[in-house]
Amino acid sequence: MSLLNDLTGAPPGMSGRALVLRLCAIGAVLAGAAGSFAYAGGWLSPGVLTPARVIDRFEEVNGPHPGFRRNHAKGLCVEGSFAASGAGARISRAGVFAAGRVTPVEGRVALAGGQPYAADATTTVRSLALRFRLPDGEEWRTGMNDIPVFPVRTPEAFAEQLLAAKPDPATGRPEPERLRAFYAAHPESAAAAALIRARTVTAGFADGTYRSLNAFRFVAADGRATPVRFAYLPEAPSAPARGAQETGTDRNVLFDDLAAALRREPVRWRLVVTIGRAGDPTDDATRPWPADRETVDAGTLTLTGAAPEAPGNCRDINFDPLVLPDGIAPSDDPLLSARSAAYSRSFTRRAGEAKSPSAVTGTPTHGAAL
Ligand code: HEM
Repeated sequence: MSLLNDLTGAPPGMSGRALVLRLCAIGAVLAGAAGSFAYAGGWLSPGVLTPARVIDRFEEVNGPHPGFRRNHAKGLCVEGSFAASGAGARISRAGVFAAGRVTPVEGRVALAGGQPYAADATTTVRSLALRFRLPDGEEWRTGMNDIPVFPVRTPEAFAEQLLAAKPDPATGRPEPERLRAFYAAHPESAAAAALIRARTVTAGFADGTYRSLNAFRFVAADGRATPVRFAYLPEAPSAPARGAQETGTDRNVLFDDLAAALRREPVRWRLVVTIGRAGDPTDDATRPWPADRETVDAGTLTLTGAAPEAPGNCRDINFDPLVLPDGIAPSDDPLLSARSAAYSRSFTRRAGEAKSPSAVTGTPTHGAAL
């Protein structure tokens, strides 16, 4: 048998012409595979936004922080449970909403941005991410922010905004000209930014309201789909944010306050689901829904403890918003699939990198475990 026969797996009696044809066929398959990789990697379309380019943009703006999330880099793990009221079962057949069902929850509170060691700042967007483990192996993963609307409508606008808001190394602040140009090109973002600036910033993580911002579809037992947005509203009354002068020298004051609160007693939120009506935008997270929409109180989230990021805990969870149980489905919001793809790329990069400890331990002394 010739070497060519060995390489191509052609039978020993195959003619030269047949062999050449076979080689051409193999070449075509290899070229096709290489083309698919090049396409998926964005090499054939330099102008198109790919998940890798979104994550490159975070790295360009924030600098390299190996091992950390490319956004919401500074965080603390939390745990607790969700007790369904039963009212949500009318609009979603997801087991998590069945009356009397208590579902264990792991989560992560974080500050938006790609700086894992930045000092906590009052107005930085705060987030709450949750993973519900349902008894039959299903999961619901979700990430919410403490703002009324999202600043951009599309992934392309997200990438543009990251660059426009990049701090100028000379001043430490974004270049006003760049920001002005971004808002001129994206009036929907200018309107959203005004709503975000006007929000009441609360004292800490424990008394914040965390919103899905993206719309989803709840699917009932009879198959009926309902457009929804949802929010976790604090059980305790909210207090206004303390000024920087009152936060003292603890660089992790927001996280440490939540950890201290959880050491004293559980902290609770109500899951309030807002039902959209025809015409309410489900594909535009920059626009709020009218305030008079019907709401359903689906149950109570109780957080009972916090722990610093460590191997195997929330540090290693990808809170992909498209990991959904039967009974919750995506809407037509273009941010949802972009988030899923970007989080996956961020997760893959950080999973392959050496890890440094999180700045957040949950104690102002930065030493003891929780
Ligand atoms: C195209 C738009 C968006 C992009 C590109 C984006 C990008 C990212 C990335 C790369 C991460 C880090 C993921 C990881 O490594 O685990 C992240 C985290 C997060 N994002 Fe987004 N995001 C977008 C929109 C949103 C929206 C609309 C929300 C809604 C509330 C949101 C909420 C969160 C939360 C809560 C986290 C932190 C999750 C955690 O603690 O692990 N993001 N985002």
